[in-house]
Amino acid sequence: MDVKPIGADEGLIYRDLRLRALADSPDAFGDTLEHALGTPRETWIERAREIAADGGHEQLFIARDNGIPCGTTYVRMASGVAHIYAMWVDPAFRRRGIASGLLATATAWAENRGATLLELWVTAGNDGAARLYERAGFQLTGRQDALRPGSKLKIHEMARQCGRR
Ligand SMILES: CC(C)(COP(=O)(O)OP(=O)(O)OC[C@H]1O[C@@H](n2cnc3c(N)ncnc32)[C@H](O)[C@@H]1OP(=O)(O)O)[C@@H](O)C(=O)NCCC(=O)NCCS
Repeated sequence: MDVKPIGADEGLIYRDLRLRALADSPDAFGDTLEHALGTPRETWIERAREIAADGGHEQLFIARDNGIPCGTTYVRMASGVAHIYAMWVDPAFRRRGIASGLLATATAWAENRGATLLELWVTAGNDGAARLYERAGFQLTGRQDALRPGSKLKIHEMARQCGRR
């Protein structure tokens, strides 16, 4: 398994991973499959170019097993806080440490850019994901919100100071 930043020409791989994630786990993410399907291919291609240019404030990581894209996460920096989003691993590749590898890579990326805090949100009841983050040192902050406007599902914020496990 290897984890690498997205390449400038990998917009359609990004799209494919995101569509698979949203179809597989609609309650894990704020975005919807319908919205992602309605996003023009050119937009994904352009986003990959922008992210790969890496002005230092965002990055998207892709995990591959024998060259096959099987997981992804996205991290964005704002005022010294790194926000981690869109963590997903293909069901056929789970419980092999791929998400842990993605999280460690995103964390190192953020720390190298001066992040002092890591933050993310987990849907209530997504115990596997919460366990993944707890094992990496994240704790619930007590903040909660709706998964998306109008949704009854709650999301809980988790955070971790940088440089501490
Ligand atoms: C959550 C998810 C990313 C975990 O990916 P993964 O590659 O299987 O995770 P890892 O193998 O790195 O797991 C690391 C640890 O997290 C915990 N964990 C992960 N999945 C778990 C599950 N389903 N149940 C209980 N614990 C789990 C375990 O402690 C695991 O260590 P172990 O396998 O040695 O017991 C994956 O299940 C997924 O994509 N789920 C759907 C999308 C999602 O929920 N994304 C998170 C949005 S916040």
